[in-house]
Amino acid sequence: MIKPFKLGYAEFNCLDAEKMENYYSDVMGMTVTDKTRDTVYISSGTDHHTVVLKHSNESSLDIIGYQIEQNVELNDVVKILVAEGIRAEVKSDARPGVHQLVELQDPDGFTLQLFHEIETPAPGYKENGISPFKLGHIAIGSMNAKKSTDFYMNVLNFSYTDTIGTRATFLTCNTDHHVLNVSSFGHKMMHHIAFELKDTSHHVRSADILAKNEMPIVWGPSRHTAGHNMATYHHDPELNLIELYIDMDQYIKPLGHFDPRPWHEELPLKPRVWEDNCAWYTKYETTILDAVLKKTELQPI
Ligand SMILES: [Fe+2]
Repeated sequence: MIKPFKLGYAEFNCLDAEKMENYYSDVMGMTVTDKTRDTVYISSGTDHHTVVLKHSNESSLDIIGYQIEQNVELNDVVKILVAEGIRAEVKSDARPGVHQLVELQDPDGFTLQLFHEIETPAPGYKENGISPFKLGHIAIGSMNAKKSTDFYMNVLNFSYTDTIGTRATFLTCNTDHHVLNVSSFGHKMMHHIAFELKDTSHHVRSADILAKNEMPIVWGPSRHTAGHNMATYHHDPELNLIELYIDMDQYIKPLGHFDPRPWHEELPLKPRVWEDNCAWYTKYETTILDAVLKKTELQPI
């Protein structure tokens, strides 16, 4: 059984990779670990890379890397995928820091890379910049959300944790409430990417750092219903929506419910359907979605 347990990295096509590198290095407080002629590798603190920026003529999310349990050899991972009708291949030394990986595409055409090991040069956490704990989750827009969630649940063995109406389905491959959420937008797109912070004081510091860099918070702080993460959202220099969050619900799979918290609407809280995504009634402004869709129109992925 293929069992991812960690969101490893996100690789972006960038119109201006230098500007994006400055944002991740100076504002996000992450560390450049490697650089080739057209690609920059950036670590949040331990792994060789967490975010990768590639010079391109478009701006889009291109590759998502998941670390998978070692109980299945990579050659057998390919066999399992091929048996499901999915094209996949083992690649060696396809990227720095990852000796071997299996590459495939999800139903929307996002490139997925599954790997057992990534080098851990551990550049550490920076004192300047936001310096998030980790890359926590990615929210994607799908051409066919049911097909996509079926793939992640049945082939990659993600667990279902929540739904918001008929819009978004939340999935996890570890204890975090979600590592991936899939929405029906009728086309392939990235809605946002999210990094975990330590606590509310870290959130306040992040907001001050964003303000000093003239980067407005476009939504939040708000506590969500699905996941109960307290989040703010801002745009990176290429209009990718970036979430910074704390307090993500932890899913105890053997119990089928979330680790109880005082702010939960019911105890014990189990995966369910929510009407809205704002526990504090801080409405999601349609202008934010407009900005996401505008980017998608301008730079289709
Ligand atoms: Fe999120």
